[in-house]
Amino acid sequence: MSRSNIWKDFFKDKKHGGHRYSSEDFLSMEAREKLFHLDGGKRLLDFGCGAAELLTYYAPEYEQLVGVDFSESMLEEASKRIKKKKCQNIDLILADHETLWEKLNSSFDRITAAGVIQYLTFQEIDKFISDASKYLNEDGKIVLFDILDSRLYPLWKIGLFSQDANGFKILCKTGFEFRTAISSSLRNRPKDILGFAHNPYTVEKIASKHGFRMICVRSMYYEYKYHAIMFRA
Ligand SMILES: C[S@@+](CC[C@H](N)C(=O)[O-])C[C@H]1O[C@@H](n2cnc3c(N)ncnc32)[C@H](O)[C@@H]1O
Repeated sequence: MSRSNIWKDFFKDKKHGGHRYSSEDFLSMEAREKLFHLDGGKRLLDFGCGAAELLTYYAPEYEQLVGVDFSESMLEEASKRIKKKKCQNIDLILADHETLWEKLNSSFDRITAAGVIQYLTFQEIDKFISDASKYLNEDGKIVLFDILDSRLYPLWKIGLFSQDANGFKILCKTGFEFRTAISSSLRNRPKDILGFAHNPYTVEKIASKHGFRMICVRSMYYEYKYHAIMFRA
């Protein structure tokens, strides 16, 4: 199975975006942080919108929003949530990073993705930014939220950031992580929902290749994630 099909299969029956807490209070705080970085615009595309847990909080701030996801179960949840929250300005599209572009008929001020880029390889991110730049208005921004930082994620995984970290626990977790990594790679399956970690400098190089300047900002709510904010240079 190809990498992208592995993830499609992984998300085919998922119903939530895997946020640290699923309470509306937390989602609303996360959305406020993201709205700060999105910083305006009228038309927004949310790639990998999942169950629209953030998208519905973006809705009051935009004229028109499009949510895209390759998981039918996620989009079903998104539809229910959009109805419940009475958002009238959101359209949903079932597509992946390749098929999405042919389904769009207009451009955007903001193209964003939260917790999605880790399911793409560097080559796919490169192609995504190249395609996105063709659908981005002149003063638009591409804002990729919550990318796993390849320098911090392994440390978080072995429990280095936890309150009760000690040498023994870290050693046990390291052993466990090592075993899980080997067994999932033998089964050609993803290790967990979080996907692959990407070094911010490599993402920045890709951005610059496509004529964007990138600012890297730490995530407020996840110690091991960062946001990549791209402007036309
Ligand atoms: C961790 S969830 C985050 C959902 C949402 N952005 C949020 O923050 O609540 C990742 C989402 O990206 C979607 N996804 C992953 N890779 C994708 C791809 N190549 N094309 C479209 N959707 C994708 C998954 O189906 C899933 O809904």
